Amino acid sequence: MQIHIISVAPDLLDSPFAHSIIKRARGKGLLNIHVHNLRKWAINKHGQVDDYQYGGGAGMVIMCEPLVNAIDELQKEKKFDEIIYMTPDGKTFNQQTANRLSLKENILIICGHYKGIDERIREHYVTMEISIGDYVLSGGELAAAIVVDAIGRLLPGVLNDETSALTDSFQDNLLAPPVYTRPASFKDWQVPDILLQGDPKKVEEWRSEQSIKRTQERRPDLL
Ligand code: ADE
Repeated sequence: MQIHIISVAPDLLDSPFAHSIIKRARGKGLLNIHVHNLRKWAINKHGQVDDYQYGGGAGMVIMCEPLVNAIDELQKEKKFDEIIYMTPDGKTFNQQTANRLSLKENILIICGHYKGIDERIREHYVTMEISIGDYVLSGGELAAAIVVDAIGRLLPGVLNDETSALTDSFQDNLLAPPVYTRPASFKDWQVPDILLQGDPKKVEEWRSEQSIKRTQERRPDLL
């Protein structure tokens, strides 16, 4: 899978993609991430990519021209399955959207900054608008990093045990059950007996009960 990201603050994305599972996905060639600095398509030698908003009001808006030039240039190389704009007024991101996006070949993500991007880009280029939650970040980069992380770990071959993504929270609209590791007794805190008895069927049943119980208690809206 190829993910291209257009940003005015590309450095913000260095670290999130250089560690752990996403680093492994990139290393194995399963995920190629290309971060593009929008200033490369600035409208003048001062690196301008934004301007005041029509109608007045505080905050700058990213202009059409640099974005159109950037997207058109990237689109010459490849056809994108989705052009995503990260914005707090987009559709709230969830596991289902991550699953769906993980099946795509080529994705372009546009990160907003300041007041956002000129609406005409949203009308004429963007195919999907994603919010990561009901709060406003200073830019779309951290939100894009979250989306890429959630997608990247789902790509076949990225996780060592491929089934482990299937048992994540939300995969069945249920939260994941509790997990334990050694020692079986720490202070006087015990690991539930059933996990120590070595009966996989019973463990499976227990996990399923715990998942339902946890979801009922914490996220009844999912049921
Ligand atoms: N940009 C600023 N805030 C955002 C949010 N909550 N989700 C996605 N992109 C954003």
